[in-house]
Amino acid sequence: MQLTMEQEEILQGKRGEILQQAMTGLVQYGTAMGAEELIAISSAHTFFMSPKDVAHYFPPRRVQLSERNIAEFCEKLCEIQVKVKTTVNPGPADFEKWRQMGATESIHHSLRGVAEISKRCGILTNWTCIPYLEDNIPVIGEHCSWSESSALIYANSMLGARTNRNGGEASFFSALLGVTPNYGLHLDENRKGTHLIDVQCEIEKLSDWGALGYFAGEAAGADIPVFINLRRPTAEEAKQLGAAINVPGGAAMFHIVGVTPEAKTMEAAFGGNLPQGTYVFDPAAKKKAYEAANHESKGKVDLVFLGCPHATLYEVKEISRMLKGQHIAKDTKLWIMTAHSVRATAERIGYAEIIEETGAELLADGCLLTYYVYFDSKRPNLERVATNSLKQALGVRRSFGSKVFFGETQRCIQAAIEGGV
Ligand code: F3S
Repeated sequence: MQLTMEQEEILQGKRGEILQQAMTGLVQYGTAMGAEELIAISSAHTFFMSPKDVAHYFPPRRVQLSERNIAEFCEKLCEIQVKVKTTVNPGPADFEKWRQMGATESIHHSLRGVAEISKRCGILTNWTCIPYLEDNIPVIGEHCSWSESSALIYANSMLGARTNRNGGEASFFSALLGVTPNYGLHLDENRKGTHLIDVQCEIEKLSDWGALGYFAGEAAGADIPVFINLRRPTAEEAKQLGAAINVPGGAAMFHIVGVTPEAKTMEAAFGGNLPQGTYVFDPAAKKKAYEAANHESKGKVDLVFLGCPHATLYEVKEISRMLKGQHIAKDTKLWIMTAHSVRATAERIGYAEIIEETGAELLADGCLLTYYVYFDSKRPNLERVATNSLKQALGVRRSFGSKVFFGETQRCIQAAIEGGV
């Protein structure tokens, strides 16, 4: 890989050990992906759960680190500031309502520790998977280094920003160095559509967008689906579409002809290439996609989970409208997950009060999947979960073996009120 003089100096350790390790990590990653250079980025969105996670990002990372090693490393890390605007994905639990999520004192303590470290490094500790709607909004053509598959597909597709599907460590290194390997979706030739998705049925409810995304992701795998005959989605609909597309195959971008910034025409979407295949999303395909996400869906529901990806303020408002004056069933929980900035606004407007009067919880900062996958803590009963998110439906089934109801928001809320579907 061709490095600038400054990058070479960092690699040789002339700017300290931590930046040297970060540069080593990025050069190894870029070399493996065939990148010829590192390019400047203007934003990063990274991911970590604890000080231990952060310390283990830096090579040699397979070494077992003691608590003392981790603390010493983090203290040194705090002397460095991130070079670009950097936000962070949801952590394990709500900073305020961690007890309601079943988190232990030690998880909460670890979370506070990593929040303090990231704040001292200059990271915007927003703990959300929808940074693109508030705290970290790249513009068209901007190069970024993002982790979180649902966020980066939105940035690439809806905003025309450029990021690969990075892990927490690559995005963290990029945040410290302000560069990323120049390969994949940073290059024009890799942003062309590959598979044509012809939408021949109604896409109305939020969950329909998830079902369509799942269908497209199955068709395109890690490549780029191009939708035709699809109306302009709202931000809420687009986030469900993107979150579901990358579930089956890991796609990091999509186009909607006439809607998304790099697909003004069919020719622009495919960049002059022919589609590798055409796939029709008709009523039968839609039914099949719903069936793939629903699993033993009838019966008592233990947890209804809304807000994957995190709920926007508009979604919180709509949920509060649907819930107003009702009561959640005694043995069922309703969790609505969002960013803490959204919750603060919802509290000010009064949506949070309406939601909480019903027995539901408006939670922030966390994610059901990451929390219970990463920590061995006391889980709520997750035998049957209802959700309007296809990503969450498949995630809870895979991670916890839950039975799942996947469907529209109103039906999920009804399940929470009645205690079952
Ligand atoms: Fe966000 Fe967690 Fe869903 S990070 S996209 S709420 S799985």
